[in-house]
Amino acid sequence: MASGDEVLTQRRFGETERTDNWWSHPLVVLIGLSLFVVYGLFRTVYPVFVPEAQAGIYHESLLSPFYSPLLFAEEPVTHVVFGTFPEWWPQLVRSPAILILWAPLGLRLTCYYYRKAYYRAFFQDPTACAVSEPRDDYAGETGLLRFQNVHRYFLYLGILFIVMLSFEAIRALFWNVEAGQPFWTGDLQVRVGTLVLMLNVFLLAGYTFGCHSLRYLIGGNRRCFSCPNNPHNGGDGRAISRRYGLWKGVTKLNVNHATWAWFSLFMVAFADFYVWMVSIGVWPDYTVIAF
Ligand code: FES
Repeated sequence: MASGDEVLTQRRFGETERTDNWWSHPLVVLIGLSLFVVYGLFRTVYPVFVPEAQAGIYHESLLSPFYSPLLFAEEPVTHVVFGTFPEWWPQLVRSPAILILWAPLGLRLTCYYYRKAYYRAFFQDPTACAVSEPRDDYAGETGLLRFQNVHRYFLYLGILFIVMLSFEAIRALFWNVEAGQPFWTGDLQVRVGTLVLMLNVFLLAGYTFGCHSLRYLIGGNRRCFSCPNNPHNGGDGRAISRRYGLWKGVTKLNVNHATWAWFSLFMVAFADFYVWMVSIGVWPDYTVIAF
């Protein structure tokens, strides 16, 4: 039986009395995030080294989420916001993804869930609850790691991206648009690519609107939802329910934030892959409904 005089001894890295598979989650995180980073980097620099691969960025009304919004492109396509890359633009950074991906990546890098996941999986800091670490101190998020506090600003950008990706998903409903005409003059069709982009937006929105920062933003600065406008205090009660309703909605998503994080991460990579494959003719983009 343990006694108060027992001396605590330093355990070796990974030593634990846990009997469950505590290592499986960090391992899955390590593999999953590594695969995503490798694929994401590959797709980001692909247009730099293979300029003709611009075709892998969009296909008619479909625009890959890795390049959305398409600020500059090699050709004056309908998706492009500012036009073609200026002549002087250095070849080394001539990829539309380089211009925008820092924002969604910043959101994920500073995300509360991902922080916990990659600190454990990549840095063993901590390794897991009640499992011995490779070092004997724990500094927490101090020093340079204070930059993680910018998460709220990446959240604002993330919400902006949801708006822009929603616009692209709506655009993917209109096909065979004549050159120079607005996209809504095209034929209204739901294709598999349309559904892929819509599902991508849905999952990204579930992830973004379940953000811890957003939850604090909506409810964290209130000690009481009902006090100021409580009918007992002479208020009409309406503002309370609106704000409380919002907070409850975000909380519902927040409870499963990790699940939304993984599904949306997989989906955004798949949506990019789908557009790439369709654009180079490997996969057909079937029409599901034509109106
Ligand atoms: S905490 Fe994960 S997106 Fe904000």
